[in-house]
Amino acid sequence: MPALLTVRDIAALTNLSTRTICRLMAAGQLGEPVRFGRAIRFPREQILNWLYRYRMPDVKSIIDYSFKFIIKEHQNNAKGYGFSDDACRKLVTQRQVARQRFLDDYENGKATGRYVDAELPKLPFGDRAFDIALCSHFLFFQRALLTTSIEFHVASIKELCRVSREARIFPLTKNGGGLIGDSGVTYPHLPAVLQRLQDDGFRTQLVKSNYEFHRGESQMLQVRAE
Ligand SMILES: C[S@@+](CC[C@H](N)C(=O)[O-])C[C@H]1O[C@@H](n2cnc3c(N)ncnc32)[C@H](O)[C@@H]1O
Repeated sequence: MPALLTVRDIAALTNLSTRTICRLMAAGQLGEPVRFGRAIRFPREQILNWLYRYRMPDVKSIIDYSFKFIIKEHQNNAKGYGFSDDACRKLVTQRQVARQRFLDDYENGKATGRYVDAELPKLPFGDRAFDIALCSHFLFFQRALLTTSIEFHVASIKELCRVSREARIFPLTKNGGGLIGDSGVTYPHLPAVLQRLQDDGFRTQLVKSNYEFHRGESQMLQVRAE
């Protein structure tokens, strides 16, 4: 699946007509498109997020739908990982086990408040409700966010720091085209985001971990309110 989708791509992905997609687009339901002259494209993650949120009946359908892509990506991009083919196969099995554990736990987790549906840049938690806030493969990474502003990143990181003592964000590489990162290129606005946080009194630290999920993805950002 390409990283930027045309109206036709979205119609094929969703089993809706191009006319319906145009109507949804005109009503602003698909979010802001990326414009190249007269051509209009939508970042894939933006459309998948919309699809999951508004067109799927339940969490199991979402997981089963996305699982197909994820497994295919793992198989197609095995070389992009920082570990062996065998470990890559094990990763697929582990994901299947994790999927089942999550589904078995979901209703109870929701009822007891362990799973909460919320979206950055605003979270429904009190100040310092958590010791640590982890954000993986979303901020800096998702292509859809390249079209949103530095402001979104700054506001989101401040929010993560409000609800926790420390925010940890990884990777700092932007997605290169696959559903999973493969470019190893640092998100271009990272220095501007760090500067804004430092100017506003946050302590930022870039930490290199000795583990990388995909090649070139070993850097993590730690942020604390001073
Ligand atoms: C590439 S996935 C990463 C999921 C998980 N962290 C992982 O590493 O497997 C990106 C996730 O960001 C979520 N997401 C999209 N918009 C968001 C927002 N505004 N706030 C928080 N999460 C969001 C998507 O639903 C998706 O699950």
